[in-house]
Amino acid sequence: MAAHRSVWEPVTRNQSVQEARDSMNDPNDTSGSPEAPPESEEPRRLFLMGQKLYLRPLEESDIGPEYVNWLNDHDVTRYMGTGRFPSTKESIRKFLSRFENSTTDLALAIIDREQNQHIGNVTLNHINWIDRTADTGLMIGRKEFWGKGYAYEAWRLILTYAFSQLGLRKVVAGAVVENVASVGTLRKLGFKLEGTFREEVLVDGKPCDTARFGLLRREFQSDV
Ligand SMILES: CC(C)(COP(=O)(O)OP(=O)(O)OC[C@H]1O[C@@H](n2cnc3c(N)ncnc32)[C@H](O)[C@@H]1OP(=O)(O)O)[C@@H](O)C(=O)NCCC(=O)NCCS
Repeated sequence: MAAHRSVWEPVTRNQSVQEARDSMNDPNDTSGSPEAPPESEEPRRLFLMGQKLYLRPLEESDIGPEYVNWLNDHDVTRYMGTGRFPSTKESIRKFLSRFENSTTDLALAIIDREQNQHIGNVTLNHINWIDRTADTGLMIGRKEFWGKGYAYEAWRLILTYAFSQLGLRKVVAGAVVENVASVGTLRKLGFKLEGTFREEVLVDGKPCDTARFGLLRREFQSDV
């Protein structure tokens, strides 16, 4: 079988978009690897390439009305820390400044390849280079993309990167227990429940437990 880029294999920062496209479009490859985006949908500053989405650094131009609307949409933020106070372009800018030139926090935009559209973000936070751990968070802001496997794929890409490129040993994530979509995605990725915190948050006025999930590198099913 011809050597080809795995769906989950990270395209590194140093690889150009053209190189990524070429390696994904190996003419000898009949194994069904995904097609790279057409020329007209040139990914900007590609970081990690997936099958139906790619991840790239967030850009100033992403901070527009759409993004502001996501954070002011209760359906999106119901189980998140954000949304308790109104979000503005300025508050988003302030939040994102934490990631600028950081070696401990990484925020990436999730881009749907078909429509070349920013649909959400995924983060790797508080990277501890001594213990080699981090935590992760994800938001799909465009609700029409929910339930289509985007969170699963975006998380898989960044987890593959965390374990195989950054050499991390463990990644953790928190979720409100009632957030079945989040808990389901984490479990599908192989995360294990490590503990619950009773009545940690109020969701629509109702006290809810939160759960901490953890994933060890050896537990992560990566086909890289
Ligand atoms: C939670 C969230 C990230 C899930 O994203 P998504 O792209 O819809 O999830 P996926 O389609 O990748 O689903 C992956 C798995 O999670 C589970 N899942 C997803 N949505 C579900 C739902 N509504 N009910 C039950 N299980 C669900 C399923 O097991 C699914 O796998 P399957 O389709 O093979 O059965 C998304 O709804 C979101 O961004 N919500 C708002 C922000 C948020 O709550 N973020 C999480 C903070 S921890």
